[in-house]
Amino acid sequence: MADPPSILHLPDDAFLLRGDGFAYALAVTPGGDLRHLHWGGPIEPADVGVLLTDDAREFGSNTWSSPRAHTEELVAHGGRRLDESALKVEFADGVRALDLAAESTAVSGDELTVRLADRHYPFAAELHYRVRGGALERWTTLVNDGDAPIVLDRAYSAGWALPWQPRWVATWLAGAYAAETQLTRRELGPGRLVLESRRGIPGHAAQPWLALDAGDEARASDEAGAVWSVALAWSGSWRLTAELAADGRLHVTAGVNDFDLRHPLPPGTSWTTPVTVGVFAAAGHDELTDRWHAYERTHVVPRPDAVRPVLYNSWEATFFDVRPESQLELARRAAALGAELFVVDDGWFAGREDESAGVGDWTPDRSAFPDGLKPLADEVQALGMRFGVWVEPEAVSPDSDLFRAHPDWIYQWPTRPRTLARQTHLLALSRPDVRAHLVQALDALLSSAPIDALKWDLNRPLTEASSGLEGAGSVWVEHVEGFYEVLDRVRERHPGVWIESCASGGGRADLGVLSRAEWVWPSDNTDALERLAIQHGYAYAHSPHTMMAWVTDSPTYLTKREIPLRFRFHSAMTGLLGVGGNLAEWSDADLAAAAEYVAQYKRIRATVQFGTLRRLSGAPDDVTALSYLAPDGAQVAVFAFAPSVRRLRRTVLLRLRGLDPAAVYADAATGTRYSGALLHHHGLRVALTGDYASELVVLDRI
Ligand code: DGJ
Repeated sequence: MADPPSILHLPDDAFLLRGDGFAYALAVTPGGDLRHLHWGGPIEPADVGVLLTDDAREFGSNTWSSPRAHTEELVAHGGRRLDESALKVEFADGVRALDLAAESTAVSGDELTVRLADRHYPFAAELHYRVRGGALERWTTLVNDGDAPIVLDRAYSAGWALPWQPRWVATWLAGAYAAETQLTRRELGPGRLVLESRRGIPGHAAQPWLALDAGDEARASDEAGAVWSVALAWSGSWRLTAELAADGRLHVTAGVNDFDLRHPLPPGTSWTTPVTVGVFAAAGHDELTDRWHAYERTHVVPRPDAVRPVLYNSWEATFFDVRPESQLELARRAAALGAELFVVDDGWFAGREDESAGVGDWTPDRSAFPDGLKPLADEVQALGMRFGVWVEPEAVSPDSDLFRAHPDWIYQWPTRPRTLARQTHLLALSRPDVRAHLVQALDALLSSAPIDALKWDLNRPLTEASSGLEGAGSVWVEHVEGFYEVLDRVRERHPGVWIESCASGGGRADLGVLSRAEWVWPSDNTDALERLAIQHGYAYAHSPHTMMAWVTDSPTYLTKREIPLRFRFHSAMTGLLGVGGNLAEWSDADLAAAAEYVAQYKRIRATVQFGTLRRLSGAPDDVTALSYLAPDGAQVAVFAFAPSVRRLRRTVLLRLRGLDPAAVYADAATGTRYSGALLHHHGLRVALTGDYASELVVLDRI
């Protein structure tokens, strides 16, 4: 049977959008207003008539209430709209209020566009909706049809209306450098929760992702309760707000941060916001996670079906001391472990002996690599691995040939000091000549040697947000657009190259960059215990298919904590396994054990990368446990970790979710057979003995 159309145009100019497990409804009133009617679980077309009648009773009830997204699909600044609006502009005559009316609607496949035009000025906002499986994508195009300039003071991608309920609890991923994506849950009171970045990148303090449910007491949990969630696909400064009105309803907005924005919209031009994505789950956070992972894997990442390789990265082994002999020695050992991609991190290029110089000159250091990178790349490939290098294309060291030739290519105010961060400036990717230079420089690098992968890093925020160019837009927007353009053009010219996104760890891990990068480096903190909490949070918003994790030396350079090799491997095997230790100093016994873990990972990696994740126990609990069920249900990988034996009995019982109760599963190591029902209702007994105990149990369905 063919799928029912995902967008229905109903009587009274109402629209019902239906995806996997959700529905969204809106309507144009006879007066030209665009009304929000529903976002949540599936409803029937006939229900929309009832919503329209309800809506007529709702609007404009008292002097002090502000119309907001429960009644208006786009809350545009003007009139009584004094809560968080989604759009605010300034016209050439100084007027800063909008008065929009629906002008036209168009349905094309799974996409709906509603054009709202200003009643007085030649200005329009086109609202776009696209159904993507269990997700709804929304964005807005702002159009200046006149001959006078307009300034966008705020241009969020959309506002999302959540229905009334007595209690709202927000879940988000807060953090800091080396402590990204910490799961955070808090009840909302009246007022506004603001999550944002003002750093020009998504940043470490929070991810542009938010989920809202009715709280644990109302049975919102992993397995039950309705959850609404919103993300923004934008790799720059962003802002998400959740405003709880006195009447108990919630308005969520998502968009480019309006901090210092003032984005010009010259006559005859348009600007399209990034996409905001809404995902609804009727049955708790398990379902929500499944829907986000499916959306990311199906509709966002490049090479969605490709298994991600086992990586070796040399950063923590050699830091800036990159020499071909030691890299080759690491490569030989990495290949013997079973690594499939070898990446030389920071330090391989001209003038780079420490942080103080070299960024911007993407040519190999002459004394270390007199014949360029090709000889090393060839040797790495001869060992059976792909070869990659680290770059930080948006930054430039003052001590670099690039900066000496083009001191005007950075963001700067003519009368103010320039801010150095990690001893670099930020190149003005708002400028077409800078973008062209970067495409050419990266093209030259990728053409100079058989390079299969880039780790694309950025280690400083955007400051001095001046374009210095006449008629240019806000650099908060144009830098990100420039970053995307350079990345897209490099990928176009070198379609075989894989890209890892990094910004001092997990500072740039949003859906915008993930549509252009195969995976993310989620944190510089490679301590396997700390990593469990980082990964726990990360996997709420993103699939393990994008989550790189390295096994490094013990103790790690950041935390100085000693952790056994087994725990380190198990922790990294819950995502994309990488190795980042100094293999030259590993004992033969550790190397042999490592090779076995890599081989074991390869047997379960399709399950980890493409399967269904269930959090069985996790931060802040003493035991972290999680399971992955293969897409075809034939394999289950169960991981359990206990950092301290103190508060733990010797064994834990992990009740597995999502298995077939009637099926029989066999432990791949011991052969013990369990019914799916037993594993679900009673649990899998896992022994965790000693500090930093960890277990991986692989079950095969018989
Ligand atoms: C920050 C990254 O997060 C690290 O992994 C490493 O690549 C350094 N930059 C190199 O400077």
